[in-house]
Amino acid sequence: MAKHRAEKDCWLVIHGKVYDVTRFLDSHPGGADILLDAAGYDATTEFEDTGHSPEARKDLAKYEIGTVDAASEKVQKAKDGAHGGGSGTAPADTGVSPGVVVAVIVAVLSALFILLNP
Ligand code: HEM
Repeated sequence: MAKHRAEKDCWLVIHGKVYDVTRFLDSHPGGADILLDAAGYDATTEFEDTGHSPEARKDLAKYEIGTVDAASEKVQKAKDGAHGGGSGTAPADTGVSPGVVVAVIVAVLSALFILLNP
């Protein structure tokens, strides 16, 4: 979460939900700066203290991108992707279990055995 506090990538947490307010910064009646100050953190208290209207609460839904847990999972996935991309190694190699390798060897040997012993 703490990574998302830039003007072009601004997330905040209200009541355990994550909101991407990047698109909203310019149109927030309370101003962009106040959102940027709260970005990357739990802004529930600030949001409630300001006494936002029911309309403002409805607007929240437009910017919801997940719960705090889902967000950290997303960040996790993004990191995994970054590892795989462009590193030159084949990540799929690590996913092959020894059992599969043994099965392939046995299959090849069986085929050879059958071919060589008519
Ligand atoms: C996605 C989250 C947010 C949405 C959708 C939102 C929406 C709005 C809306 C529609 C208003 C106009 C008044 C109203 O209808 O209540 C408003 C005012 C305001 N907001 Fe937000 N807000 C958000 C987050 C925040 C946060 C996190 C803060 C504080 C850190 C904040 C501070 C304020 C302030 C101070 C005003 C009053 C501006 C004024 O009356 O001069 N807002 N907000």
